[in-house]
Amino acid sequence: MLSVIGTGYLGATHGACMAELGFDVIGIDTDATKITLLSQGELPFYEPGLDDLLRKHVASGKLRFSTNFADLAQADVHFICVGTPQRKDGNAADLTYVNAALEGSAEHAKPGSLIVGKSTVPVGTADGLSARLAEINPHVELAWNPEFLREGFAVEDTLRPNRLVVGVQSARAEEQLRDVYAALLKNEVPWISADLRTAELVKVAANSFLATKISFINAMAEICDAAGGDVTVLAKAIGYDPRIGNRFLQAGIGFGGGCLPKDIRAFMARAEELGADQALEFLRDIDSINLRARSRIIDVAAEYGDLKNKKVLVLGAAFKPDSDDVRDSPALDIAYGISQRGARVVVNDPKAMAPAAKRFPDLEFTDDLLAGAQDAHLILHLTEWKEYRALTPADFAKVVANKVIIDGRNALDGNAWRDAGFIYRAPGRPTLTPKK
Ligand code: UGA
Repeated sequence: MLSVIGTGYLGATHGACMAELGFDVIGIDTDATKITLLSQGELPFYEPGLDDLLRKHVASGKLRFSTNFADLAQADVHFICVGTPQRKDGNAADLTYVNAALEGSAEHAKPGSLIVGKSTVPVGTADGLSARLAEINPHVELAWNPEFLREGFAVEDTLRPNRLVVGVQSARAEEQLRDVYAALLKNEVPWISADLRTAELVKVAANSFLATKISFINAMAEICDAAGGDVTVLAKAIGYDPRIGNRFLQAGIGFGGGCLPKDIRAFMARAEELGADQALEFLRDIDSINLRARSRIIDVAAEYGDLKNKKVLVLGAAFKPDSDDVRDSPALDIAYGISQRGARVVVNDPKAMAPAAKRFPDLEFTDDLLAGAQDAHLILHLTEWKEYRALTPADFAKVVANKVIIDGRNALDGNAWRDAGFIYRAPGRPTLTPKK
């Protein structure tokens, strides 16, 4: 039997996937509302495929939920899956929930069981937790097993990971983790066994590298804009070199979400504490290039006339497609920035309008795209849902006040919009203007 502490995005996915691998799983969370929903087989957020898995295993009884830590007592391995948000007073990670999860599980864990951290934490955290565990329950060991799952592909990434990384303090702990993942290891998934500190670092280094790729291509977009090149062609051309690779080179408004931005900042804070000044400066640049990509789009929008009292239609609110997550969403940040310039901003998103409205109650939201476009001064495409690629530009040409579309994700067919009479503008690319 396994336990999962924290039933948010990571914990709910891990729990349901471990049930799919055949384990009995108990999910623990202090949020009673969430536990009630999950116990009824209902997912409190959108994640393709996870809802079916959850329903299936709640119905079969393999997956249960509780607010009581005592209910994890029979489990052999406990996974800590709680969040580590950015602290309100700076860049560092808030470890309140991780500490509470360790205390709660340590108190009830049976002798010989293993507590495994999956949360993303600053390097050195596990050492501290391990020392605390030895005080509370010396017959239980701590290991670290970072996750690399992407929202929108969470089930796939958990059941078919591209690698499994474990930080362990004994051969026994490694064996326990190998047993958990035995079904995946049959498929020859690379298995990397490390010390606790390296395992913690692998996660933040991986996310920082991904962030670096995105900020790199956005820096190239800035150069293309200044020099008159096309960043999408540039990205394609460099991406054929397998040492570079073509993924994560989509220039635009940059990265957001609950992971990359806060992980890079927490890493900055830790690098500073460790006196790793060069790493700190490097990470700071990645972060500031990313934020610049957002403010640049607002400036581009303002090039088409004063935004005051103008209507602007924003396509997209989620931080990326196939997600209803609006945490640190570049799309919403830009929508809000445009509204701060006096525009009347109307936002659409296939899945994320409710969470977006909760966060930004002053923005307007619409399901009806053509009504949203009626008399619009500008259209901004900020989250690349496939639905937006399927739009017919001519329909919009009939209703807007001003035929300008800014594609913040470099994802639309610019020629199609241009042919419908629009000026098509995208970061790092020459502007397309309608043929006379
Ligand atoms: C990210 C990592 O990709 C996962 O491996 C990791 O496990 C996860 O964080 C985590 O730490 O839990 P996720 O936050 O789901 O996953 O999102 P990504 O797919 O990485 O996208 C992040 C942001 O980068 C999005 O806003 C996306 O629009 C943007 N992005 C991505 C670009 O601007 N350009 C690209 O080429 C790729």
